[in-house]
Formats: sequence, C-alpha cells, structure tokens
Amino acid sequence: MKKTNAFQFFNKDTSVKHYSDMYKELRLDIRYPANVKREQIFVKLLQKHKSKKIVDAGCGTGMPLIDIKKKGFNIIGYDKARNMVSEAKENLIKNRLSPDLVFYDDFENPKKIKNNSVDCILGMGAFYYAKDVNKTLLKQKRKLKKNGRLIFSLRNRLFDVITLNNYTKNFLDEIYEVKKLKKEWKNKYKDLTKNFTDRKKIKSKINIDEAGVYNHTPHNPLTVTDEMAKLGLSVEGIYFYHFHAFPPVFDAFDPYYYRKNSWKIENPSDWRGYFLASAFVIDCKKIF
Ligand SMILES: C[S@@+](CC[C@H](N)C(=O)[O-])C[C@H]1O[C@@H](n2cnc3c(N)ncnc32)[C@H](O)[C@@H]1O
Repeated sequence: MKKTNAFQFFNKDTSVKHYSDMYKELRLDIRYPANVKREQIFVKLLQKHKSKKIVDAGCGTGMPLIDIKKKGFNIIGYDKARNMVSEAKENLIKNRLSPDLVFYDDFENPKKIKNNSVDCILGMGAFYYAKDVNKTLLKQKRKLKKNGRLIFSLRNRLFDVITLNNYTKNFLDEIYEVKKLKKEWKNKYKDLTKNFTDRKKIKSKINIDEAGVYNHTPHNPLTVTDEMAKLGLSVEGIYFYHFHAFPPVFDAFDPYYYRKNSWKIENPSDWRGYFLASAFVIDCKKIF
C-alpha cells in the first residue's frame, strides 16, 4: 500500500474536526480521551520544570497549546498541515489569544525557530510521523538551550504483547526468530498462534497503520533510554498513557464499558503501562 504523508492525512477536514473536538468535552460515550490524558502529562512536566520559552512542534488545531498558554506559559507552535494551522489560528482567536502564536513549519527541518533559543520543545503525537525520527530529534535538539527539555510521545512497541491479535503474532514471530526455525517447529508454532485475531476480520476502528499513514515503528520503552542517549538526550522520565483494560478486541463488544474501565486505570507511573498502554511520553534533557 502506498503510504500517505502524515501532514497530508492530518490536513483533511475530518482530521481537523476530530482534533478540535476531542479536547472539548470529556465524554467516554463518544471517544476515548487518550490525548486529553497525554496533555495532562505534558502540563505536569511543564509545571515541574517551570519551563519558560516553549515550542509545540506539530501543534495540530492548537487545543493543547491554548490550554498551556492559559496556564501562564510562554508557548508558540507550528504545524505542516495548512488546514491545522488555520484551525489553530481560529481557535486562538475564539480564546482571545493572538493567532500569531501558531504558524507553518516542518518539524523535520524547522526553519522559523533559532538554534539554542528554546527551553522546552513538545511533540504530542508528532515526531513518530517523521521520515527519519532520530534525524528529526537531532534537529529539534539543536533548537534547545543547554539543559533544555525535549518532551514527546511515542507509540509503545510492548503493547503488541497484550493485544492478542496480528500485532502480537508479528511481535512474537520477530522475537522468537520464527523464520529461522525448522519446518516442524514452525508448523507447531503456527498452530499455537492461529487464534490470534486478525484485526482486519473484526469490526474495529482503523488505526493509522491500516489507514496507510506513514509512521515509525513503535518504540520499546525498555530500550528507549539507550537509544536517546546516543542522540545526546538523557531520558529523565517515562510516562504511560492510553491504557487498555482488556485486549482491544473487546472495545468492539461494548465500547463504553471498555473505555470506562480503561480510563479508571490510567496511571502514567504504573508498571503495567509497559504492556497495557499503547503510548508513552519521554521527558528528555539535552546533554550534548
Ligand atoms: C496526531 S496530530 C497531534 C496534534 C497535536 N499535537 C495534538 O496533540 O492535538 C499530529 C500533528 O503533526 C502534524 N505533522 C505531521 N508531520 C509534520 C511535520 N513534518 N512538521 C510539522 N507538523 C507535522 C500533523 O499535521 C498533525 O497536526
């Protein structure tokens, strides 16, 4: 399948509306407020660090940026989807804030932010859409002052273990190196894993992979600290969000019950997040 660039996908009217609406009301009967939880994690970290000059990279419709601004922070943001930028400007105006707080730029190669000028850069559901995530992080790091913070969310690779579907099968195939097994074992193993549901066969909401949106393979929270250290970023904290109280296939059986139970167990510091949360936030400090 030919992949769509993320900013083109997010430029669609339906995406713009979705990203404006999701922050407006916390209604578990309509949708799971995973990104509201994500924003709360970011806000707590900004309050802890008392960050001064903040940039929201891939700010979307600007809803989190507006909340953060209203909490008294000095924040600006940018996005590569023109329609997201227009919507963000409108949302700022509706909130009696300057539309100039948001503008067009590209987080893979930001042109409008000066090097060594920012205290904190936020990437809320953003950087894993880059063609080259590590290169993008290095470009972002360059914009930070000494000891500046790069706080961003990633998708959780270990979540594949508990989904009990084709993602689990692919994950196990890889870690057991099934391709290298002798035929007889391969067949036995195939038999053992045959009941993992294929998402395509159930009525489930299409995710970004299935929608053909270009994105990086999810990151492993157990190895991300070493990975970031190589880029000159010290991971000072890992915070989990978008918990799944039960295998995701159950979401289709009773969405409200599923969401209610999942919302109850959202706890960024719970070790179960390594498996039950589909995403996590890392709080990185620029070390070189
Ligand atoms: C999942 S949305 C998140 C939006 C917002 N951060 C939020 O939390 O509501 C990802 C955003 O990243 C933007 N984006 C994707 N690629 C980008 C790029 N190369 N540069 C800047 N923004 C980009 C998309 O247009 C989209 O608005």
